[in-house]
Amino acid sequence: MASPLQYNYSAAQPYISGPDWDRVTPALEAARKEVIADVEMLDSKKAVPAAKDPLDSGFIELPRRLLDGGDNKLLDRMLDSAKRLRDQIDILVSLGIGGSYMGLRAIFEACCHPYHNELTRSERNGSPRLYFEGDNLDSDATSGLLDLLQKRCRNPKELTERWGTVVISKSGGTLETAAAFRIFRQALEKYYGPDSAEARNLIVPVTGEKGKLRDLSNGRKYPDTFPIPDGVGGRFSVFTAVGLYPAAVLGVDIKAMLEGAADMTETFKKTAIGENPVLDYTAVCHLLEKHRGLKTRILSTWGKKLEAAGLWYDQLLAESLGKHERGALPLTIVNTRDLHSRGQQHQEGARDKLITNVIVRKPSLPGIAVPVVAETEDQDQLNRLKGKTLDQLLVAAIQGTNKAYADDERPTADIVLPQLDAYAIGQLLQMLMLATVVEGRLIGINPYGQPGVEAYKNNMAAILYGK
Ligand code: PA5
Repeated sequence: MASPLQYNYSAAQPYISGPDWDRVTPALEAARKEVIADVEMLDSKKAVPAAKDPLDSGFIELPRRLLDGGDNKLLDRMLDSAKRLRDQIDILVSLGIGGSYMGLRAIFEACCHPYHNELTRSERNGSPRLYFEGDNLDSDATSGLLDLLQKRCRNPKELTERWGTVVISKSGGTLETAAAFRIFRQALEKYYGPDSAEARNLIVPVTGEKGKLRDLSNGRKYPDTFPIPDGVGGRFSVFTAVGLYPAAVLGVDIKAMLEGAADMTETFKKTAIGENPVLDYTAVCHLLEKHRGLKTRILSTWGKKLEAAGLWYDQLLAESLGKHERGALPLTIVNTRDLHSRGQQHQEGARDKLITNVIVRKPSLPGIAVPVVAETEDQDQLNRLKGKTLDQLLVAAIQGTNKAYADDERPTADIVLPQLDAYAIGQLLQMLMLATVVEGRLIGINPYGQPGVEAYKNNMAAILYGK
């Protein structure tokens, strides 16, 4: 096993009473059992009781099953197809929204070079640039990307001027993605030839077993279409083809990522409370919300590469537990950037926040020292740093910030990743998905499904289609 993620909650522990810990322990054990039993219930294909409907617990064992060759060696088929696509294009346009978008973006930002799209193809190790669309109804953003494609891609025979698309939608009926797919499909077919085999080869749908996108994909005979299995909900689908396939096109080590996720599931199932990141994190969040009124959960990411993972988590928590007029408010920040915007409120504002830091021990790229200059040029007085690296400054910022919160009796906890790689991101995302469903079971809210999202869609359909 590569280095495990750690969850340190010693700075939060003083705010939780011994009796509260004692009371939550059996409830947490029961929630763990229920979450594991949910997997068995889904596997059994028996009717799901109304209180558990929908039941989307398929994400829990999926990483290990894929690694073990499940679904007819789906992982190998994805890797083969990803290599084919990667060798044929220099720009990948990913179309999707919500759970069909945010997990991929989290992986991309965490695992790829911060300026991936600006690098040459060889500097990108032969992987394409990546752009996202279909995540909005934003005319300028869509026009902007089409304009960029038109300007950069003039000769479809030149590898560096070739583009393709992955269209991701579980239901296959989400308007944002469906409309974007029509628009980009038309542009792609215009570029490579209408209804040409070439255009068909460069479109890869990722979708559920049924639905409009599945029908479209069958009708147009796209050679590679990958499934989003029943029993895996949108925001829990990052380790299906939704995140895995495009990540593989980018050259991310998706096997390592699945290993990280599968190891986290094992840790969750087998490790005692007190050494179990999933259960400990759930307990701290839950107890501080229940007994101290900490209804705002700040995910304080220390590094820009984790911002998208935080936004993915905002969706996960909000859509899973924001039901029946309950559910904590998730808020992602990126430090030290947001110490200069939200920091004041977190230090002196309402006492309704739990701050969970996400800390990466080692930078992905070589560290940079602040240069030491001649004394006559030291007007900014940074020679006092004695050539410390930015990374060392960040450690001081983390320690200083945590101490400032502790001095004012504001609880914090830390999720610590040894480094930011595919294995670590696999662990982190799986930990947060498991913690979300455990908390749902603990407080009696079905974490799966998002019935509230239908209201606006129905109104919109009535406005657009008159029904
Ligand atoms: O968690 C969910 O199910 C949602 O956020 C969906 O991922 C989102 O609405 C997109 O749906 P679809 O993949 O069906 O287009």
